[in-house]
Amino acid sequence: MKHGLKILAAVGILAFSTVSVAHSETNGELDYLRSVMNIFRLHIHAIEQTIEPGSSYSDNVVRHAAAIRQTSGLLDHAYPGKDSKVNSRGHEWPWEDEEAFRERVSVSQDSAKELVSAAKKWNANHDTPNLLDAIEGVKQGCRNCHGDLRNWP
Ligand code: HEC
Repeated sequence: MKHGLKILAAVGILAFSTVSVAHSETNGELDYLRSVMNIFRLHIHAIEQTIEPGSSYSDNVVRHAAAIRQTSGLLDHAYPGKDSKVNSRGHEWPWEDEEAFRERVSVSQDSAKELVSAAKKWNANHDTPNLLDAIEGVKQGCRNCHGDLRNWP
């Protein structure tokens, strides 16, 4: 009987640890994607801050744009998988279709490329409306994936 209890306890511990490992892996991957996305978001915000009139950091605009372009490259590996219909916050995601996800990635990468050239132009002539259009283009790319699910960004 005592022996039986020990086995039961061991099975219980094993089951518990297996469940918690699987859980933490899933959360780790989501956390990683969120880090990537937050890097994205903060670089966009940083551009908006550095083009404020009088900012002494305006020389960094092109660098932030280049960083956004680099970050958009990370989206090539961001497909969370067909089974990932619901994220940990309970939202339904629209990406059962990997092909459609890849198209959104590619639109997002094109808009990041355009942002880099707009940022270079801005550096030369401070054509802010043109740069704001390019930033809006990048945000539209974000909304292709996030828009109707969350009012974001
Ligand atoms: C091709 C699709 C795609 C594009 C484009 C995209 N994202 Fe995401 N985003 C994802 C995926 C997948 C996740 C991770 C899923 C999750 O959080 O459940 C995510 C998560 C996020 C999160 C974390 C949300 C949270 O709950 O913590 C933020 C913030 C975010 N994205 C911002 C952005 C920004 C900013 C852009 C544009 C610069 C962008 N995303 C473009 C697919 C995309």
